[in-house]
Amino acid sequence: MAAYERLPDMDSAEFKQWQSLLEQRTGVWLSENRKSFLVTNLAQRMRERGFESYQEYYESLDHGVGSALEWANLIDLLTVHETRFFRDPESMELVRNHAQKIIDRAAESDAKEPVNIQVWSVGCSTGEEVYSLAMLLSELDKQPLTNKNRNFYFGLTGADISFPALAQAREGIYHQRKLAGVSPDLLSQYFDSLADGYYQVGNGLRHRTCFVQANVQELESSPKQLYDIVYCQNVLIYFQNNRREQIVSQFVNRLAPGGLLVLGPGELNNLTHPLIEKVSTKHCQAYLRAGG
Ligand SMILES: C[S@@+](CC[C@H](N)C(=O)[O-])C[C@H]1O[C@@H](n2cnc3c(N)ncnc32)[C@H](O)[C@@H]1O
Repeated sequence: MAAYERLPDMDSAEFKQWQSLLEQRTGVWLSENRKSFLVTNLAQRMRERGFESYQEYYESLDHGVGSALEWANLIDLLTVHETRFFRDPESMELVRNHAQKIIDRAAESDAKEPVNIQVWSVGCSTGEEVYSLAMLLSELDKQPLTNKNRNFYFGLTGADISFPALAQAREGIYHQRKLAGVSPDLLSQYFDSLADGYYQVGNGLRHRTCFVQANVQELESSPKQLYDIVYCQNVLIYFQNNRREQIVSQFVNRLAPGGLLVLGPGELNNLTHPLIEKVSTKHCQAYLRAGG
């Protein structure tokens, strides 16, 4: 199909087939009103790969050499990567308070081991959320814990299904247009200026982060590391309710005792789980795991 050719029409059976393939493999549910999004993005990829019919392309994803690689490319086009620095300031504030409490508790205790805060940002897209949280924790790191002989460490893991988004996240290069949410003070402390209005997150912060490919539908088989903070916003909204609950229960399994789970406001109503308790806030949706 040449770039100027009209997209083929997608009938309702074809739409259902793609809708269910995407849901099976990623959990993302495309409602009927997002059909044009599906068609536009599929057609872009089909043109690049020289496919003329949706069926032929669909079958090529199911078997054959390179089908897994092709799926990885397509998935990037069929998922929404919109994000920005400090996107939800109130949830960020909740994280700051939680981390501050961990630090205060450590400062009061006689223990000597380092304070270590580990954060997991799930559905991290191109990295803005991870670096926002990293700046927030780095600012807390300026407090004098040293008189207690205790160091403060923190690390952040960003996870996403999209390889291209993760590649961008690892590079940490953003145009100044994308940096509106970062104050001039944080910008000068944590970013290096590059040419043409681009900035790169400095090594000090990048070394605290790692970005890994993960499908939230398959967390059961992924390593069971525990995190003090699990942050997942604007991901579950693309999933059906029953899947949201299963995924959140995997998050809870990876929360350290006393850990904080932050979701996007309204992303999962009426969540009940025996191990967590809702944090009482006006605008955020957050939970604490018992213990700690
Ligand atoms: C709209 S972005 C949200 C980015 C960021 N959390 C924020 O709130 O600004 C949604 C991200 O979820 C990712 N995603 C979608 N389905 C996923 C899945 N099954 N497993 C892991 N990540 C997924 C997409 O690739 C995308 O980067």
